[in-house]
Amino acid sequence: MDLGLKGKVALVTGGSKGIGKAVARGLADEGARVAICARSEAALRATADEIAKATGTEIHPIVADLTRAGDAERAVNETVTRFGRIDVLVNNAGAAPGGIITELTEDDWAKALQLKFMGFVRCTKAVIPHMVKQGGGRIVNLVGNDGVKPIGIELTPSAANAADLAMTVALAEQYGRNGICINAVNPGPVATERWSELISGIARIRKISVDEANKRAERSIPLGRICTPEEVANVVVFVASPRASFVNGASITVDGGQRKALLD
Ligand SMILES: NC(=O)c1ccc[n+]([C@@H]2O[C@H](COP(=O)([O-])OP(=O)(O)OC[C@H]3O[C@@H](n4cnc5c(N)ncnc54)[C@H](OP(=O)(O)O)[C@@H]3O)[C@@H](O)[C@H]2O)c1
Repeated sequence: MDLGLKGKVALVTGGSKGIGKAVARGLADEGARVAICARSEAALRATADEIAKATGTEIHPIVADLTRAGDAERAVNETVTRFGRIDVLVNNAGAAPGGIITELTEDDWAKALQLKFMGFVRCTKAVIPHMVKQGGGRIVNLVGNDGVKPIGIELTPSAANAADLAMTVALAEQYGRNGICINAVNPGPVATERWSELISGIARIRKISVDEANKRAERSIPLGRICTPEEVANVVVFVASPRASFVNGASITVDGGQRKALLD
């Protein structure tokens, strides 16, 4: 199936590693021109070069820290300056510390919402005027299954994800009339650097080894294994494409049917 992404312009936040990198690669494989942003310039450049070489598509790296409002606006504007338009925003850069209610500090809560929720808010706010002017676009929010299957040991991600899902539905309704489709994709455990951090946190809270925590995570997923970044990217790329023309305000869970209670 031709997804119709050839020549489209996308910005993928957190595009240097993990799921964001797989999404940038997937979009480039379909012929899209892609900007990626993250904080570390070295990792960004290495990823941009790797994808450009493999796909023959232009990848534009932008150093930006999305905990800063000015950086989010600059990342969007630089994408438009570089490529002349912006058709797709993938809000992906995000992290919220795991932990339980009695241990989480005010600072943990502030950090959790600062990137995983406010980072998405900032980029969305910056991109909407461009998409309205162009007559349409796609915003895909990489949220997480904690938003629909909340769990006490991942309390701040659960809360930040729920906030992202609320924004997804509200803005999908508000901007559908402008041709902008806004959707959420909710991964469960995905084999990236972030998952390694989360599983170590779960092991600490449960007082079990990281090995045992990983076994429980695999057992909690009927498919019996952790997802790959590419399996999430495949769904994101489709939702970002003109082929998903009537998908708006949706929340698509990509977690192999995970049953969170079995993490206990
Ligand atoms: N992995 C999972 O199991 C899982 C499950 C559910 C949901 N998710 C969600 O999926 C998304 C991607 O997760 P991942 O596992 O691929 O993460 P990852 O491997 O840790 O990659 C995170 C990316 O975001 C960038 N980033 C981090 N902080 C940033 C900041 N302040 N400003 C700009 N960029 C920043 C990182 O680069 P720099 O560090 O250089 O900035 C990197 O490119 C996240 O929103 C996460 O919550 C992941």
